Amino acid sequence: MKIHSLDAYPVFDSRGNPTIECEATLADGTRGLGVVPSGASTGQYEALELRDNDPRRFRGRSVFQAIENIQTRLAPAVVGMDVEDQRAVDLRMIQVDGTPNKSALGANAILAVSMAVAAAAANHRRQPLHQSLGEGRGTLLPLPEIQIIGGGAHANWRTDIQDFLLIATGAQSFAEVMEITFNVYHACGDLLKQRRRYYGLADEGGYWPEFDSNEEALTLLVEAINRAGYTPGVEASIALDIAASDLFDPSTGRYRLELDQCELNSHEFVDRMIDWCERYPVISIEDPAADTDVAGWQRFQAALGHRVQVVGDDLFTTNPARIREGIAHRLANAVLIKLNQIGTVTETLDAIRLTQAAGWLPVISARSGETEDAFISHLAVATNAGQLKVGSFARSERMVKWNEVIRIERQLGNRARFIGKGIYAPLANGKTGSS
Ligand code: PGA
Ligand code: ZN
Repeated sequence: MKIHSLDAYPVFDSRGNPTIECEATLADGTRGLGVVPSGASTGQYEALELRDNDPRRFRGRSVFQAIENIQTRLAPAVVGMDVEDQRAVDLRMIQVDGTPNKSALGANAILAVSMAVAAAAANHRRQPLHQSLGEGRGTLLPLPEIQIIGGGAHANWRTDIQDFLLIATGAQSFAEVMEITFNVYHACGDLLKQRRRYYGLADEGGYWPEFDSNEEALTLLVEAINRAGYTPGVEASIALDIAASDLFDPSTGRYRLELDQCELNSHEFVDRMIDWCERYPVISIEDPAADTDVAGWQRFQAALGHRVQVVGDDLFTTNPARIREGIAHRLANAVLIKLNQIGTVTETLDAIRLTQAAGWLPVISARSGETEDAFISHLAVATNAGQLKVGSFARSERMVKWNEVIRIERQLGNRARFIGKGIYAPLANGKTGSS
């Protein structure tokens, strides 16, 4: 079935910033929508998000040029192509852009079209997106990483560390994950309010705290798990996103922890991350070193990679070439997957497959600026990725993703699988270990 036309227009993300929605219409009238999220702590190796940078309009954040690029450059190239050949459509757009980081037309323009085409193909096949994207092979429900406390670029740097998250390691079903998370999230909120440490909600719906040190967040999260009636490290474990590139000064090679009033070199910083993982029930850590601090990554992975999930976000930026390098140099054992870091559905699927083929773990992720779209819930199931990170347990741009997994579970019926913390088995087997 041929692509008949593309319509593109500005809509708004969860921070109220302009973003792009694209509607693809097929020759038989079938339609599909794509809408693009946006990060705040973006990695330097990400594909380019094209903004107009005109201070008179939306503080420079408008996307009119990217939308025009869809209308004048991308639509003429993909109209008439077969909607079922996603790879051909995406490769054509990469070709038309002609730059390595999609900076000519904008990764936001290209991704809006790519997602709209994927959605239209699913609608044409009368299949849910997870079935269409995964060619019917996706049956694994993801284990969620859910933010309880937000910091860094998402909470005006109230903590240096960006995400304090929960993984319901004791859950036997997706429904049980939701219940454990609900209980811990609210227990944490109660504690913060009692101690007058509650400031509000951060960008992804986790609590925006007032703490005197980064470790205070870890201590409080452990208390919240206990208060909710669970054993830390058994039924409920901690995941961290350090987003260390934001704390690193490449000119001095040093990391700054503002709240802890200290500056550390690579060894010292990574050793502090290792220390936290040893003293608290941390099962997963993301970006424990800056994207240019290769020695820092290797130090962390060598120390704890056999038992802690070590996730590269800014390090890999969902870029298959960078992931391949990381695998060769044993920098981590897991990859955060964000569609708009690379800019097409096809390259995202390639990044996931590459990760899985190495015995590493993909974590499908939202951005801090999100939309009411649930594409990534389908992507997680379609690829049997096994993990999904979309922010907290509040705000509809987050809850729509968790709710969609509940719907997918019902669609899959008795084909749905949930292995919970079994997803981490490759770490314990040493398959992705450091030696
Ligand atoms: P971002 O944050 O979307 O602001 O980049 C999410 C993350 O770092 O994982
Ligand atoms: Zn991250």
